[in-house]
Amino acid sequence: MISAQNVDYRYPSGKRALSGINLSVERGEFVAVVGHNGSGKSTLALLLSGLEYPTKGEVTVNGISTRQKNRFLELRKQVGIVFQNPENQLVFEKVRDDITFGLKNIGLEQEAIDRRIDAITRKLHIEHFTDSFALSMGQKQRVAIASVLAMEPECIIFDEPTAMLDPKGKKEIHKVIVELHEQGLTIVYVTNVIDEVLSADRIVILENGVIKGEYRRGELFDNIGHLREAGLEPPLIMDLLFRLKQRGVNVVVKRWAIEDVVDELAGYIEQCRAGPSGIEQPPTEQPRTEQSRTEPYRAVPGGVPHGELC
Ligand SMILES: Nc1ncnc2c1ncn2[C@@H]1O[C@H](COP(=O)(O)OP(=O)(O)O)[C@@H](O)[C@H]1O
Ligand SMILES: [Mg+2]
Repeated sequence: MISAQNVDYRYPSGKRALSGINLSVERGEFVAVVGHNGSGKSTLALLLSGLEYPTKGEVTVNGISTRQKNRFLELRKQVGIVFQNPENQLVFEKVRDDITFGLKNIGLEQEAIDRRIDAITRKLHIEHFTDSFALSMGQKQRVAIASVLAMEPECIIFDEPTAMLDPKGKKEIHKVIVELHEQGLTIVYVTNVIDEVLSADRIVILENGVIKGEYRRGELFDNIGHLREAGLEPPLIMDLLFRLKQRGVNVVVKRWAIEDVVDELAGYIEQCRAGPSGIEQPPTEQPRTEQSRTEPYRAVPGGVPHGELC
């Protein structure tokens, strides 16, 4: 539904922030864009949302070029964007006024506006929020999401939406985003913390304004060396299983949620305990070498089949 073709972007200062970007986002997909600070993530988010347009190349949303200024409102109804700091997105004192603003812009009558606000605030469990200034950052971010969601877009682009939130706020916002995706919304999630996007369908790595790699969910594990090359920290849980794999313990996980990883590890340990004949045996100790401790990202072609050490 969103496509960037050979996109370059240069700021008026002359700074080139993006070069040769080719990226397409399918309807219903959850695409994560990860990169360290200054890699061009926010610039890309602005271009994909149509709030900015490329210096070179083209961004289209359902076939509409973001350069077509006369179709801006049409575009707004299809793609929304949520920024890092909700305070920049909320301008009114009353929560309802903030959500109303965008809906008035697209020409809805008051009655339809009220209906949408009631539905959206219920969906995000914020019916009881009234005064914006009385809300925590996490609550404000939920209002910002509500005001974007009220436009009923097909896609929302999130630019580091949890960067300013406390751990509880982060968790709540993640939950909201995962639920929205499950309900069919297309999500583009920009972050520099990979742990946040382990459930994404696809992870795109941005470095110095260039796409350095693109991985489907199951492919990232075998390419975590590329994360470090792009200045990113691999998720702790992935790092742990990668190091275990290098020591011959090949635990294959389908999802990176902590519960799933624990299930797989527990299954592996049980299998080891039972041994080939079902008799309890201690797992074989692999020799520790200096190399295995200091060279964490050596590829293990094919890995060791599940249970081979048992
Ligand atoms: N308004 C601006 N004017 C000039 N350069 C900018 C502007 N905004 C961002 N940049 C530069 O563009 C590059 C990409 O920035 P940005 O897209 O904000 O990266 P990220 O979101 O990954 O931190 C950086 O080098 C940044 O300094
Ligand atoms: Mg940014």
